Amino acid sequence: MRFDILTLFPGMFAGPFGESILKRAQQAGLLEIALHDIRTYATDRHKSTDDYPFGGGAGMVMKPEVLYQALADVLGFGPAAQASETLELLPEERPPVLLMSPAGEPFTQRMAEELAQQPRIILICGHYEGIDERIRECCVDREVSIGDYVLTGGELAAMVIVDAVARLQPGVLAAASTEEESHSDYLLEYPQYTRPATWRGQPIPAILTSGHHANVARWRHEQRLLRTLQRRPDLLQKAVLSPRDREYLRRHGWGTSPAPDDSAAS
Ligand code: ADE
Repeated sequence: MRFDILTLFPGMFAGPFGESILKRAQQAGLLEIALHDIRTYATDRHKSTDDYPFGGGAGMVMKPEVLYQALADVLGFGPAAQASETLELLPEERPPVLLMSPAGEPFTQRMAEELAQQPRIILICGHYEGIDERIRECCVDREVSIGDYVLTGGELAAMVIVDAVARLQPGVLAAASTEEESHSDYLLEYPQYTRPATWRGQPIPAILTSGHHANVARWRHEQRLLRTLQRRPDLLQKAVLSPRDREYLRRHGWGTSPAPDDSAAS
């Protein structure tokens, strides 16, 4: 899968994309991440990428022309767009263009799974007070927010999205590890333990060394239900629950408010 990232700060990506799993996946040819410096498309002497907002107000707005040239170049119709005075609409057949924005639709594991089906996506990192609305209208397919808070720019959001989508590509992780993880079926993960079996006087749950696989599986499933109930009861509305799951949850306070706290975890 290929990711094209349009950014004013390409240097920010070196750390997250140059280490660990994403680094190895790129070296193995499973991922391609192309960084495009928006500033190289600025045409004036000062290489400016932003300007004052019409109508006044605080902050600066990213200039439409610069972003448009960057997008046109990445999509492969750069010279034509440069020569033309009119707005060439982006080709119908194109990778989805995503704009990072705190006003976008919330990024979720579902969206990550959806995007992971694409061979290529383009991410625009917004900055300053935002981008000229006409770029949004002509060229953006989806505005995406990674949470209800405001970052200094879209770069960190783009890193989060690339990471979450990249790890779903076949071969990037060992297959089993994405199957039973938090959010893929709307249940949080069960607790994990490793050696030593007793650490500083804290033993692991005895069931894990019982050798009884079916009981371990049921215990883990119940831990997922319990954790989700305690931490993210909203997710239970979307999870597929068996009658036995529902009964278990009701016994642990599901359907009564307020939600029980962590001390009821045993
Ligand atoms: N840019 C600034 N804040 C953001 C957010 N929460 N999500 C995506 N892009 C952003």
